[in-house]
Amino acid sequence: MSQSIHLTRYLVEQEREHGVITPHLRLLVEVVARACKRISIAVNKGALGGVLGAAGTENVQGEAQKKLDVIANEVLLEANEWGGHLAAMASEEMDTVFPVSENYPRGEYLLLFDPLDGSSNIDVDVTIGTIFSVLQIPPGTAEVSEHHFLQPGRQQVAAGYCVYGPQTQLVLTVGRGVAVFTLDREQGTFVLTERDLQIPARTSEFSINMSNLRHWAPPVRRYIDECLQGKDGPRGRDFNMRWVGSMVADVHRILMRGGVFLYPWDKRDPNKPGKLRLLYEANPMSLLIEQAGGAAIDGTQRILDIVPTALHQRCSVMLGSREEIELLQSYHQPA
Ligand code: AHG
Ligand code: MN
Ligand code: MN
Repeated sequence: MSQSIHLTRYLVEQEREHGVITPHLRLLVEVVARACKRISIAVNKGALGGVLGAAGTENVQGEAQKKLDVIANEVLLEANEWGGHLAAMASEEMDTVFPVSENYPRGEYLLLFDPLDGSSNIDVDVTIGTIFSVLQIPPGTAEVSEHHFLQPGRQQVAAGYCVYGPQTQLVLTVGRGVAVFTLDREQGTFVLTERDLQIPARTSEFSINMSNLRHWAPPVRRYIDECLQGKDGPRGRDFNMRWVGSMVADVHRILMRGGVFLYPWDKRDPNKPGKLRLLYEANPMSLLIEQAGGAAIDGTQRILDIVPTALHQRCSVMLGSREEIELLQSYHQPA
C-alpha cells in the first residue's frame, strides 16, 4: 500500500464519500479501537502486569471470570460511557444492560461486547480477542431497556473484533465490506492493511471441537465424517483441521484463508441451543463473514435472521466459506 491509511481516515471516507456512517458511529468505532489498544497493552504485559489468573468471581452465565475478562470489560465501559454516542451497553460479563449515566449526553447507539474471547487461552499465551456489535435505537426512545437489544443481527450497523495475536489486528465492517487494520505499536494507530477482505468460497479446512463428536446431531456428524474420509470419501479431497479454542482466532484464520467454524447444538444439554452467545459472539462474526462473501447459519436458518428473546441467549453456529456452509445446510434439510 503506497500511503498508509489509518482507522480515522478510513472512517472519515466511509462517512464523507459513502455516507454509510454518522459522526457518532465514527466516534464509537474509534473509542472501541482505543479501548482495544489498552486491552492489547494489558494482554502483552501478562504476568508482569499482574493480569493473569482468576478473578475469583463468576459471570451471569456461571462461568469463572479471569482477571482479564473483568479488566477488558472495565476498559470498554470506561472508554465508551462519556462520549455522547451511546444509549447503553451490554456485555458477556454483565448480568443486565448498562445504560449511559445521566451525567452524560445520550446517543442513539447500543454497544454489545464479548470483552475477552478465549478466556481459557489467556494464561497459556495463546491468541485471544475482543468482539463487538453495534445496534441503533429508534429516535426519541425515552428509556433504554433490554428489549431494545433484542434485534436480529441483520440490523447491526457495525461489527468487528480485535485479535491479540502475534500482531494486534482490528477487523471491521460498517456494512460495506470488511476492512482489516494492523496496530502500529510505535505510532499507536491502527493502519489499514486490507480494504475488502473476501473469504475463498471453496475450502478444505474445518474447525470444531472434536472431543464433542459423540454428542453431535447427525447432519454435523455426516459433514465431519465425510471431511475425515478425505480423498477416499465423497468429498474427493483431503481436509485439514484447526481448533484454537478462541472463536476470535479461529474466525480470523477463516476470514484470512478460508474454512468453516462450527460450534453446533449438541445433545449433552438438549435444551441449550448452543455454547456461543448470539448477540455478542455469533451475530458480529456472522455479519463479518457475510460481508466477506461467506455464510453463517445455525443449521437450518441464517444466524442474522434469528429474532433474539434474551440478552445472553446462546445459539448453534456454523460459519465460513459459502460452498461448505451451503452443503452443511443441505444436510439439515428434511429428506
Ligand atoms: P469466552 O472465552 O468468551 O467464554 O468464549 C469461549 C468460546 C469461544 O471463544 C471458543 O470458540 C469456545 O468457547 C471454545 O470452546 P471449547 O472449550 O469447547 O473448546
Ligand atoms: Mn467468547
Ligand atoms: Mn468472553
